[in-house]
Amino acid sequence: MNGALCLVPLLRVLGSSLSNGRWKQFRRVFRDGLCAIAGQTPNHAASVLALPIVTSGGSVTELPALLQLASGYWISQAIYVAAKLGIADVLNGGPASGAQIAFATEANEGAILRLMRALCTVGVFRVDDTGKFTVTALGRPLQCGVPGSLRAMIITLGEVHYAAWAHLIHSVRTGRTAFPVAFGAEMFDYLGLDIEAGATFNSAMTDCSALSSCAVLLSYNFSEIRSVVDVGGGCGKLLTSILCMYPEMHGTLFDLPSVIAHAHGKLGADPCRDRCNLVSGNFLEYVPPGADVYLMSTVIHDWDDERAMRILANCRRSMRQDSRVLLVEFVVPDGGEISFSTLFDLNMLVMNGGRERTVSEFRRLFHAAGLRMTRIIPTLSPLRVIEATCS
Ligand SMILES: C[S@@+](CC[C@H](N)C(=O)[O-])C[C@H]1O[C@@H](n2cnc3c(N)ncnc32)[C@H](O)[C@@H]1O
Repeated sequence: MNGALCLVPLLRVLGSSLSNGRWKQFRRVFRDGLCAIAGQTPNHAASVLALPIVTSGGSVTELPALLQLASGYWISQAIYVAAKLGIADVLNGGPASGAQIAFATEANEGAILRLMRALCTVGVFRVDDTGKFTVTALGRPLQCGVPGSLRAMIITLGEVHYAAWAHLIHSVRTGRTAFPVAFGAEMFDYLGLDIEAGATFNSAMTDCSALSSCAVLLSYNFSEIRSVVDVGGGCGKLLTSILCMYPEMHGTLFDLPSVIAHAHGKLGADPCRDRCNLVSGNFLEYVPPGADVYLMSTVIHDWDDERAMRILANCRRSMRQDSRVLLVEFVVPDGGEISFSTLFDLNMLVMNGGRERTVSEFRRLFHAAGLRMTRIIPTLSPLRVIEATCS
C-alpha cells in the first residue's frame, strides 16, 4: 500500500486520541504504525531501512533490513540443501527443468521447484523462459571438485555449525561452547567419531586451504627453510603446496589420528608425498621436535587462551633456538573497526570455545609461551601470517 495512504488512518487515530484524552493508549499503535509504513514505502524510509534483494529478473524487493538479517538462515539453509543434493553438479550437464533436477536428486518435484525459485531470487541459480535452470557465477562453487569449490564447507555449515548455532544463547549466557549441547561431545572429539561429518569437515578445511595457501605462498619467503611441521595441518593441502614450491624442503603433517588416517588416502598420489611424513598425535600434549618452522593455519583461533598457550608452549619445547612459529590467522582490528573476523569470533565461541584475536592478544599469548612476535605479514586474503621466534 502507498505510504501516504497508510498515513491517513493513522492521523485519524492520532486526532481522535488527542481529542478524547486517550493519547497514552494510542501512542504505541501510532509508533508501530509509523514503523510499518517506513518498512512498506519503497522509495523513502525503506531505502534506509531495507536491504535490497535483487531478483534474477533485475527487480528489487524490500523487507525491513532487520527482518532480512533475522531470516538469513532461510537463505543459508536453502543453499545448504542445494549443496547437499548436488544440484549444481546436476546442472553441470546443461540446463535442467525442475522435474529433471528432482529425478536426478531423488527429491520431490514441487518442493525442488520452490527451492530453485527461492535460490533464483538470491542469484544462486537462473531460470530461462522455458523453465530450465542453470547455475550462475555466484552459485558455481556449489559444484564439487572444481577449483574454489565450497560445497563441503557449505555442507559443514548447514549441518554441524547450524545445529551448534541453535544453542548460541547457551554460549552467550554462560561464556561456554554450544557444540556439546547439540552433539554431546567437544567438536574435535565428535568429528573423530562421526565418520561422515569428520570427512566433510576435513574436505571443507582442504578446500579452504586451497584458497589460502596461494595467498600464504605469495606473501612469505620460505626459501631458507628446510623443514616444516604443519601442526593441526588437516589433510596437508597447505603443507604440500609449500613442498611443491620448495623442492629442497621436507615436511611433517601432524594431526589427530582420525585426520591422519584420512590424509593417507588424500595424499597417496601427491607428487610431494615422498618428502612428507605423516604423524598422528595430540598437540595439547606434544608436537614433533627439531623443525625450522612450526606452521599452524587457523589452529590457534580454535582454542581459548589457556589451551592456545599450551599448544604454543609445546611448539616452543620442540623448537631449536633458531626455529620459528608461523601462524596463519585472522587478526581482529584493535580499534573496534567493522571486520568480518568478529563473526568468526562468535563462531569460535559456539564451536570450540576459541576466539579471534587482536595483535596485542597474539603478542601476550606468544609471551606467555616463551615466544616473541616478530612480524605480521598481510596476504592477498583476509588472513595474516604471524611470525614468532624464541624469546
Ligand atoms: C580449523 S582446522 C585447520 C586445518 C588446517 N590447518 C587448515 O588450515 O586447513 C584445525 C585442525 O586442528 C586439528 N586438531 C584439533 N585438535 C587437535 C589436537 N588435539 N591435536 C592435533 N590436531 C588437532 C583438527 O583435526 C584440524 O585438522
